[in-house]
Amino acid sequence: MSRRPVLVALDVNHRDDALRLAAQLAPRQCRLKIGKELYTREGRALLETLHQQGHDIFLDLKFHDIPNTVAAAVRVAADMGVWMVNVHASGGRKMLEAAADALAHYPKPPLLIAVTVLTSMNAADLRETGVEEPLAAHVTRLTALAADSGLNGVVCSAQEAAAVKAAHGDTFLTITPGIRPAWAANDDQSRIMTPEAAIAAGSDYLVIGRPITRATDPVAALAAINRSITPD
Ligand code: C5P
Repeated sequence: MSRRPVLVALDVNHRDDALRLAAQLAPRQCRLKIGKELYTREGRALLETLHQQGHDIFLDLKFHDIPNTVAAAVRVAADMGVWMVNVHASGGRKMLEAAADALAHYPKPPLLIAVTVLTSMNAADLRETGVEEPLAAHVTRLTALAADSGLNGVVCSAQEAAAVKAAHGDTFLTITPGIRPAWAANDDQSRIMTPEAAIAAGSDYLVIGRPITRATDPVAALAAINRSITPD
C-alpha cells in the first residue's frame, strides 16, 4: 500500500470546478485522477496548474492505438510530468511493450497501468467483439499480458486484487475503483468495498470519486477515509 493510496476522481467537466475541488484536496493527502472529459476540455493548461499546486496526476486517458502512437502519447504524458498513465491491455503485446519502452529512459517515469476489460462490458458484449473465452478468463489473460509486457500494474476490482498479487507478485500494482466508505451512498457502483477492506485485500491505490467530490465537506470526507486506512 502507498503512503497516499487515495486517487480522487475529478469527474467534473470545467476548469473552475476542478480547481475548486483541487484547492480543497491537499497533495499530501491524495492524488488526482483526470479523465477524458475534463482533459479533452481543459487539457494541458489545467494539468500544468495542478502540477504547480503540487498535485500528482493520474492521467486516465486509456490509450489504445498502434504501438508508435501509444508510445508517443505516453512519452508526452511523461514530459508533462504526470505520475500515472494508462493504456488498454487489449492493444496487444507490441503496443504494451512500446509504451513501456518509451518510458524506460526517464529517470522518474510515470507508472504505466493497464485497463483489462471495461466493467461496463458483460459476457455477451465481449462475445460480440469476437472474444469467446469467459470474461473472467479474459481479464486474467490481459492482466498476465500486461505484467509480461513490463507494465507496472492493472486497474481491477478490489475483489480481484489478491489474485493479481498472487499471480504477478507484490510489486505489480492494483488500482481499484468501486470503493465506498460505509457512510457513503453506493451511487451506480454495484460490487463495492470499503477503503479499509480494499487495502486489506491487496489494493495499492483506491480510486474514489463521488464520496469525496460530492460530499458536503470534501476535506472531511478525504480525512475520514485516510484515517480509516492509516495503521494505528
Ligand atoms: O464516483 P466513483 O467513486 O464511483 O468514481 C469512480 C471512478 O473510477 C470514476 O472515474 C469511474 O469512471 C472510474 N472507474 C470505475 N470502474 C472501473 C474503472 C474506472 O468506477 N472499472
